[in-house]
Order: sequence, then C-alpha cells, then structure tokens
Amino acid sequence: MKIRIHGWAMALLFAACWTPFAGAQMREKDARGQEWWQHAVFYEVYPRSFADSNGDGIGDLNGITSKLDYLKDLGVDAIWITPFFPSPQVDFGYDVSDYENIDPMYGTLEDFDRLVSEAKKRGIRVILDFVVNHTSDHHAWFLDSKSSKTAAKRDWYIWRDGKGPDQPPNNWISTFGSPAWKYDPATKQYYYHYFYPEQPDLNWRNPAVEKAMFDVTRFWYQRGVAGFRLDAVDTLYEDPNLRDNPPLPGKDKFGRPLQDERYNKKLPEVHQALQRLRKVADEYDAVLIGETWTKDVKQLEAYHGEGNELHLPMDLMLTELPFSAKAFRAHIQSLDAAKSWPTYVISNHDIRRPYSRYGDGVHNDDIAKLMAGFYLTLRGTPIMYYGEEIGMENNDPKRKEDVKDPIGVIGWPEEKGRDGERTPMQWDSGPNAGFTTGKPWLPVPESAKKYNVEAENKDPQSILAFYKQVIRMRKTEPALLEGAYVPLNESDVNVISYLRKSKNGTILVVLNFSTAPQNPVFDLRKQGFASAEVKGLLQNAASAPDGALKSIKLDAYGVYIGRVND
Ligand code: NOJ
Ligand code: CA
Repeated sequence: MKIRIHGWAMALLFAACWTPFAGAQMREKDARGQEWWQHAVFYEVYPRSFADSNGDGIGDLNGITSKLDYLKDLGVDAIWITPFFPSPQVDFGYDVSDYENIDPMYGTLEDFDRLVSEAKKRGIRVILDFVVNHTSDHHAWFLDSKSSKTAAKRDWYIWRDGKGPDQPPNNWISTFGSPAWKYDPATKQYYYHYFYPEQPDLNWRNPAVEKAMFDVTRFWYQRGVAGFRLDAVDTLYEDPNLRDNPPLPGKDKFGRPLQDERYNKKLPEVHQALQRLRKVADEYDAVLIGETWTKDVKQLEAYHGEGNELHLPMDLMLTELPFSAKAFRAHIQSLDAAKSWPTYVISNHDIRRPYSRYGDGVHNDDIAKLMAGFYLTLRGTPIMYYGEEIGMENNDPKRKEDVKDPIGVIGWPEEKGRDGERTPMQWDSGPNAGFTTGKPWLPVPESAKKYNVEAENKDPQSILAFYKQVIRMRKTEPALLEGAYVPLNESDVNVISYLRKSKNGTILVVLNFSTAPQNPVFDLRKQGFASAEVKGLLQNAASAPDGALKSIKLDAYGVYIGRVND
C-alpha cells in the first residue's frame, strides 16, 4: 500500500513539474516509465471552423488562443491543428504553398507564437500538420519545377513523358476522382498527383526534397512545436518504374474500376524516410503522429518500426468497423495483443461524425457517451476531434451548389464531400453558435441550439459533462494510464467489459452496445480477486450499488465504470 501511494505521488509530482519549452527538450518519462504522449489527451482543431476572432466567417489562430481555457478545462494536453499555412485552399489547407508561414486568413507568425506561449502556460502542447506527400501547385518549388524541363527543381516533383499522344505514363488514379497524371502543354510532360491536380506529389527520392522538408520541421520545432501529424504518409513514394497497378473487381465511389495500389502506396521506402524524419524529431523530443490508413494490425504495427518510426500511428480501422460489441472487441484485442502503444480515434475532418455515424436517432446522446466511455478508457492514446465532446452531428450540404469540398462537387450526389463534418464549433445558442459575428463559411445546424458548450456546461447530464468526467478519471486513476487491458466475458455479444489492471489499482469498464437492458455477471477470481468489490466512479444509463460485484445493470447503451478492490 505504501509503495503504491508513493509511486502515484511521484507521478503527480512529475506532472506538476512539467513545462514544455521551445527547442531541444529534455526527454522526460513519468514515474510509470511512460512518455508524455502516452498519457496525453490529444484534440484535433480544424482552424477554419473552431473560432473566428475577426468576423470574416473563417476561424483563425487568435480564435484558437481565445478558447484555450475551454480546452484546459476539458482536460486536453495537446492540440493538433490542421494546416494553416499559406494555401490557395483548394483542399482547405492541405495544398500548402509555403511551409514556413501562416496564411493571412488565419493570422501571423506573431499570433502563432502567442498561441504556443499561451498554450504552454496552460500545459497544452501544440502539434502541427505536416503535408509531406505533396505541395500546392502554387508553391515556389513547383512553379520553378514547371518552368522548364531543365529547371533547378524539375526533379523535385514526378514528371514523365506520356505513353503516347493523350496517354498518361501509367494507369494510376487520383483518390479524388481524376486520373493521377496532369499534362503540362508547355513542357509536354505529365506530373503525378495522388490527390487533386493542384497537389503535385513531391519526389522524395530526391535528397534535396528530403532535406528541405526536414528543415521545415526544424523551423517549427525551434518555434516551440511539440510534434507533427504526418499527412498521407502511405503515399510518400512511388515505384520508380511506374508499373501499372493491377485491376481489382468493383468500382470506387466515383464509378472507376478499383485497383490494387501496390505501386503507389505503402512502398518500403516510406519506412526508411520515417526513420530519418524520426531522428530529427528525436533531437527535439518531438512526437510524430501518422495518418495511417491500414488494412490490418500488421500494417499498422509496421509504422512503429523498431520503435524508431512513428510514435503514434493512428488506428483508423476502428472508424470503419460496424457499431457492434463483437467487431469492436475483436479489433481492440488484436491491437492490444500487438503490444505497441495504440492510438485511438473515432472521428476526424475526413470521416462522418460519430454522433451521426453511430446514432440510431433515439439514443444518440447515450451512444456518444458510450463511445467516450469506451475509447477514452482503453490502453493507448486518444485523439479527439473538435465538437465530438458536445455531440455535434454531421451537417451535410443539401444542394450541390452549396458544396465547398471539391470531391463533393465531383462525386455529387453519392459523395457529398467532407463539409458535413467540418461545420463551425458550437459555442453557444446565439447566432452562428457563437463561432463568428459574420457569415460562417459552412452552415451551423439547428441542433446547435441544444448541443453547444454553454448549454452543456450547465447540464451535469450533458455529453460534455460526461467527456470531462472520463478525461478527469484518466488523469486520476493510474490504472487507466498504465494498466493492462484484460478482456472479460468475451462471448457476450452485447456488452464489452474489461479491466484496466495495474499494480496501482484496477478499473472495470462495462459497455452495453445494444438496446436491450443487460445485467452482466462477473467472476474475477481468474484475474486474482478472491472477493472483488466495486465502487462506482462514472455511469450513464446504468446502475450498481457499491459492494459485491454482481448487480451491474445497464439500460440501452449504458456505461458503467468502477474501481475494483479485493
Ligand atoms: C488527408 C487529409 O486529412 C485530407 O483532409 C486531405 O484532403 C488529404 N490527406 C490530402 O492532403
Ligand atoms: Ca507521393
């Protein structure tokens, strides 16, 4: 008992002493031997939509700074801000025309420095988005590259002759609905773009490109940035021989035949580049998060390398599973068995919001709390998406003429694009949900009257109140940070139950993924508890008296979290 208190007190002491600072940072591990990013709650901010400080209808850096107290109160330890660099905004910032500046619509470098220093005062670290695969076609590098076949930077991008008149170099297709090659009549060659034509792929086989990109990370590390989320890492390298991708049965969402993208995705060279990028990150004790779309746990594992690639490759597979206890349990168990540190997300700016994705139209609020009780109590690092904590719904465009995201225009009506999950953060029940005094760049839904920070802060039963409690519990219950994941009642098709078990305590999590009331029975003798007793810490649509572990009752989508004692 004595040792247990001592260990935990030490952890608190370390946490209290922590201060992020610019430049080279001291590698710190806490008393559990974990690094800060293992027990941090990350939060994705889409800057266009978070808070608008100057009334132009587009969020900005000063807007983010004005909401840091909210983020601190929520329990956020690090924010990942999606691109705010100069950009023609074809892909809303993922088409960068200068990696070392701020687009005037978002503010200035001084605003950025203030954001970092105000965040630091609140113990919040700042992570940037690094668009590694491509630049904007307005970037000075591409303008030079395009200027002639002998330009200094011609080889910074991927230029090739066509196979013949009007025939691109191979059969690769862009994920955004067009061929992946664009012909340039001036130099009579094609350039390659995995995303929009306005996003030409960089040639990472050219050492000068790699050096320039690594220097970009140094520029931001020296400004106090704590790490990067790496965009589209899968697509960094292409087959030098440009072999055709083999066709696959079926069609994509734009009606084109599917192909096995074996020659333009996940090439082995990606891992070597990540190892070199990691060395630069290590000089600054920075963290690398990856946008890693993988088909199985083995592929995801590969992105950790030998602990020398990404710290936090995102598990995006969870977002593609059906809402079912069986599917979720199997997935979590395979990820946990892999032993690397998992990174969980249920939502981001490219994926339908979980409130709409999982909601059944009746129990949406309970389902939102259930998902929070689930992914925020697993062994691993969670990355939240703004607005998820207040139950923001997807607000899809109703008419093609309202669509802002180009893929929604190309693919309408089957593919409506990503506007729906990017609408303004809902701060209050006033005009435009308090996001802007002007006209918001995307519309605020009717539901913002009820689902907003101001209203939910006053309601102890709100989704926001629940999120705050789970996050607080993560910080006060050592088992949730360091404990092993121990699955219970594994054949239950409705209820996922598990322990987070550590030498400093044990937490029981019980989650009903069905509409039917449930009364699961637990026998923890195999887990080393001769006569387990439980004390409730947090619940929704559930009840259980403190004491013997036999009468936990869950209503539809109920959550029960308790502390287990012998
Ligand atoms: C992934 C980003 O999350 C998405 O928004 C963007 O369109 C593509 N990468 C291309 O940069
Ligand atoms: Ca590429």
